[in-house]
Amino acid sequence: MTKADIGVIGLGVMGANLALNIADHGYRVAVFNRTTQTTRDFHANAGELARRIEVCETLEAFVAAIEPPRPIIIMIKAGDPVDQQIADLKPLMADDDILIDAGNANFRDTMRRFTELAPGGIKFIGMGVSGGEEGARFGPSIMVGGAYQSWLRVEEVLKAISAKHEGTPCAAWLGENGAGHFVKTIHNGIEYADMQMIAEIYGVMRDGMGMDAKAMAGIFAGWNEGPLDSFLIEITAKVLAADDPETGHPMVDMILDAAGQKGTGRWSAIESQQIGVPAPAIEAAVGARSLSAMVDVRKRAEQILGLPDLGNFECGDQAVAMLEQALLAGKIAAYAQGFAVMSAASSENQWNLPMPEIARIWRAGCIIRSRFLDEIAGAFTLAPDVENLVLTPVFSEMLKQSEHALRLVVSEAVTKGFPVPALASAISYFDQLRRRRGTANLVQAQRDFFGAHGFKRTDGSESMHGPWNDGQ
Ligand code: 6PG
Repeated sequence: MTKADIGVIGLGVMGANLALNIADHGYRVAVFNRTTQTTRDFHANAGELARRIEVCETLEAFVAAIEPPRPIIIMIKAGDPVDQQIADLKPLMADDDILIDAGNANFRDTMRRFTELAPGGIKFIGMGVSGGEEGARFGPSIMVGGAYQSWLRVEEVLKAISAKHEGTPCAAWLGENGAGHFVKTIHNGIEYADMQMIAEIYGVMRDGMGMDAKAMAGIFAGWNEGPLDSFLIEITAKVLAADDPETGHPMVDMILDAAGQKGTGRWSAIESQQIGVPAPAIEAAVGARSLSAMVDVRKRAEQILGLPDLGNFECGDQAVAMLEQALLAGKIAAYAQGFAVMSAASSENQWNLPMPEIARIWRAGCIIRSRFLDEIAGAFTLAPDVENLVLTPVFSEMLKQSEHALRLVVSEAVTKGFPVPALASAISYFDQLRRRRGTANLVQAQRDFFGAHGFKRTDGSESMHGPWNDGQ
């Protein structure tokens, strides 16, 4: 029997759909899952693609079924299971086989795995895959990190299965070792911020304007025709339009307001702090998810503190247009911050991340795909080394047009007591960023007062220490 071109380990939602996608593109794929029944069921349900799928019931049979040098994708739960899987596979694999971790790994784990696998001949790729179930099946966005030579060997299949934007595959090699997983982590951080800001605007419409789900669905659907055109806005409209089959109420009203999180958003925030490039919109989004999960505390706080009764938002077309612009400005903050973090990490890790290419491969297939990313790709193509997206002509103009709306929406929300943590962080970020004369001179003085840390003077000279003791 002809050997398989590639193998997939892990037939959960993502792995199973990726394997079907690979088979659908004419490749023979060997599959293995820890639970054999899952592998058999997968094969039984694969329809006419089953003929290109090789069911393997042991890891030995799986490795033997693939044509060397073997590309093997592992799509299992990130963390220890990946290390365990690598340990099990290592003795069975040969020099030049390529192990591709396609899960949402922490890039630091990916870097460690590179170092651990380097002495043997096995090649390693850390691959970010975005697009959820449907993306995995019909075309995800694929972010590859590893040796360029390894990429060349899997480029064809990865490009074939990826999403296409205007005919160009949304799969690219982004740099050595952890580059792919790092970029995927920041993608998810931006995803968190994007989702949170949408949820904040939904909150203003629901609680501040008294709109029902259907009315909001119509508004989001309309916004999807304008500058906010994106997958997340599109699905928000669909979510708001759906009814619960059991009660007939809008489905969204039947869902507990406690968000889950698997870790990538948090890693994004941690990495931004670690590298010293702030991403407050991402941090606010992670914090908001955590606070959302504290359902009992929030219930008790509402009982003890009460809800502010400070009036509502104005309704009407103008108010809705204002919300749209506010969301656009907030989105600019999230992307500017995410890209700034990537740029710093790129220098620190010598990845040389291709910013326009990252924006381009996020243009289709991934969760944050949007029209907006075309503008980002364009801006970075003209200014690849720019420190912050808002310094580019297109985005500075877009921000100037939309920031007033963000300021008004945030100030009204704060005045009336509606929570908008990510949007509020965005306007403060812009206000701090654009102000040449900030207030850190006072912080420096305080640091020097209690810790003799010294400071730079505005006239350019260094001062070892301020005259504080004299004043005591
Ligand atoms: C994607 C998604 C995907 C997934 C994450 C986020 O790009 O396809 O980001 O990776 O949705 O698991 O999950 P949490 O929201 O649970 O952190």
